[in-house]
Amino acid sequence: MVNASQRSPSNGRLSGKIYRLLTVLVNKSRGETKNRLSCPLIHFENVGLRYGMGPEILRDLTFDIPKKSFQFLTGPSGAGKTSLLRLLFMSLQPTRGLIRMFGRDISEIPRPELPLLRRRVGIVFQDFRLLDHLTTYENVALPLRVRGKDESSYKTDVLELLKWVGLGERINVLPPVLSGGEKQRAAIARALMDRPEVLLADEPTGNVDPPMAKRLLNLFLELNRLGTAVVIATHDLALMEQVEARRMILSGGHLDIYD
Ligand SMILES: Nc1ncnc2c1ncn2[C@@H]1O[C@H](COP(=O)(O)OP(=O)(O)OP(=O)(O)O)[C@@H](O)[C@H]1O
Ligand SMILES: [Mg+2]
Repeated sequence: MVNASQRSPSNGRLSGKIYRLLTVLVNKSRGETKNRLSCPLIHFENVGLRYGMGPEILRDLTFDIPKKSFQFLTGPSGAGKTSLLRLLFMSLQPTRGLIRMFGRDISEIPRPELPLLRRRVGIVFQDFRLLDHLTTYENVALPLRVRGKDESSYKTDVLELLKWVGLGERINVLPPVLSGGEKQRAAIARALMDRPEVLLADEPTGNVDPPMAKRLLNLFLELNRLGTAVVIATHDLALMEQVEARRMILSGGHLDIYD
């Protein structure tokens, strides 16, 4: 079993360029003030969530996501894993309690500022959300393209990222032709384009066989080793048994944490 906090250094699997690309975010966070370094990336305090007039599906959630941490978020189907990831991604607002993202109370952040803050969080959705009419390369580059960035400023990064996730040969293929594992890796590459400080993945091994699940897990571990905090929502016990990592277990609306 691998211990998420005591893994050996990379054995040269990363090319120099991708290593530089991914470590930029580590260096970026090192440049922050001491005050910001000492606080967790994300802090929840007595957070509750209900949809409309329905029952409260998340209750009194109090936890931190520390910098560079690695954790599994688990619990039975319907326990609220995806809902909690949506809170972490700031695409949902809690119905009560306090959420601090990167040291800021999100209820006090003006709406127009949220997309900027959201760039510091990468998310891989349960259903990938790749656009079928765009190639793998175009899907991964899309977040930068819609922001009006010049292709010359990101092309090398996109190609390196795609190589890193093992899709170097699939850059010009449309998503319908990709396997489940390949789609998952394209979605991971897209989530990493903004060099997020925390990566959220919703059931990333839901549609792949055990060898591919292992490969995806290794990608997440490598990313974490380079300094990105990782939260993986899963009910794949076989996956969790491979790593000695923090477990956040949702059940009956409550969260238990095993460090
Ligand atoms: N948009 C929504 N509107 C109303 N209820 C919702 C909505 N999304 C989720 N729910 C309800 O919230 C609860 C938690 O759902 P959620 O999808 O977060 O669970 P989950 O743990 O991710 O489940 P799974 O393991 O099946 O993916 C469920 O009872 C679900 O029906
Ligand atoms: Mg879910």
